Amino acid sequence: MTPTATTETARSAPAAPGALPLLGHGPALLRRPLDFLCSLPATGPVVRIRLGGLPAYVINDADLVRGVLVGEAGRFDQGVMIEKVRPLLGSGVGTADGAEHRRLRRLMQPAFHKARIARYAATMTAVAAERTAAWKPGRTLRIDEEMNELALTTVARALFSSDLGADAITEVQRSLPLILDEIPRRAMLPDALLRLPTPANRRFDRAVRRLRSATRHVVDAARADGTDHGDLLSVLLLAEDEATGARLTDDQVHDQLVNMLVAGTETTGATLAWTFHELARNPAVEHRLHQETDKVLSGRPAVFEDIPRLAYTLRVVQEALRRYAPWIILRLSPGEVLLGDVCIPAGATVLFSPYVLHHQPELYPDPLAFDPDRWLPERAAKLPKCASIPFGAGSRQCPGNVFALTQAVIQVATIAARWRLHPAEGGPRVREVARGAVVHPTALPMRCLPREHPYAQEGDRNPSTA
Ligand code: HEM
Repeated sequence: MTPTATTETARSAPAAPGALPLLGHGPALLRRPLDFLCSLPATGPVVRIRLGGLPAYVINDADLVRGVLVGEAGRFDQGVMIEKVRPLLGSGVGTADGAEHRRLRRLMQPAFHKARIARYAATMTAVAAERTAAWKPGRTLRIDEEMNELALTTVARALFSSDLGADAITEVQRSLPLILDEIPRRAMLPDALLRLPTPANRRFDRAVRRLRSATRHVVDAARADGTDHGDLLSVLLLAEDEATGARLTDDQVHDQLVNMLVAGTETTGATLAWTFHELARNPAVEHRLHQETDKVLSGRPAVFEDIPRLAYTLRVVQEALRRYAPWIILRLSPGEVLLGDVCIPAGATVLFSPYVLHHQPELYPDPLAFDPDRWLPERAAKLPKCASIPFGAGSRQCPGNVFALTQAVIQVATIAARWRLHPAEGGPRVREVARGAVVHPTALPMRCLPREHPYAQEGDRNPSTA
């Protein structure tokens, strides 16, 4: 917010060009979301668009985004879109606002303490090692699907590690991809259409019912069992509100669990897939990564204790999170709010795109280039706050951020220590698709080639001959 602006001196936000009669900018946002959102900074730091009949405000400036996420924390609620996924998420942290949101976040906190992350790390290592052990040299795999499966299995096993969860993991693997694919369509359609018994709506409702019933069964069984299995589910069952001593009900534990499954799967899966896509396109980056993983791991899987020595791997992951960040975050303004010199009316939809911020050339020169060294501490320190927000910021910042970074570093290093992934010959051109909350690759077929001569044993080699 500029210090001098007041609601009296505020101006209205400039309108984005290209609105269609009645439909406004809805078709542009649906059909080519990344192009459309990336075109808006040219109009101004705050731009008015029309979605159907309603105005919405797009924030294109890192400082102003900070005003929404941090400065005005607590003032902005989740938008109306979140109601569309309430049948799936229930009353978990992702759908709650205000005091209830703060309470649920407090109760979830212990699940992400450092000691817990170290325990989940063993699962991250095991899942990556098991899955890649089944890869055959020279085989072509759909790396987009493979990485989604890897992420899903990892989160599901970290959530419920005991045998109680075995059936639920199978059900989650079956239902969740179908549900995640369906969410964007539902977010854009009016409620009345979502209640019609169309095949797509029935498929979605059935998948939600199956997934929630399977995960609910695990919560009930774990409560009856009463043992602390050291997994996320045990933490939630045992969590106690420090202020009141109150615990989560079984319904609330269940909703939290489903929220984490949904939030923690496609996000990490897409990040892993993009990382291998970029490594294959950037031999010099791949070479440095291989040098590091060979030196630290000599071909064995990475474990939690290796992370401090995998600094370049971390920068590669951070760069993948910059380049392919979540493409949209929505909020609702509960009162009149000044952002810069623009007055946002009460009840308006406010939205911004980490993806767009992460591609602004004044923040990230040559923004399409994959350059992990942007994240060298001395360079990253020069960025303004909120210029890098793959996990959001403020009161709703992703609680799984350390989990996700730990997982990505361990799994990228574990895979890169043993395998090189090459784009399949004659494969389709890879495009970016905004689906769910994140940017996914279209089909990503890659050949897996075993790395038989790690640099650790051979000394340096030229990346072009590697
Ligand atoms: C690369 C991986 C990930 C990315 C890029 C990511 C990104 C995000 C973002 C942008 C938000 C929303 C912030 C907002 O609305 O302002 C969010 C929320 C959330 N994430 Fe993540 N996330 C990742 C992984 C995970 C994992 C692994 C978990 C759990 C195990 C998780 C759990 C959640 C939950 C529960 C929320 C809702 C928080 C709230 O509304 O207070 N995420 N995430």
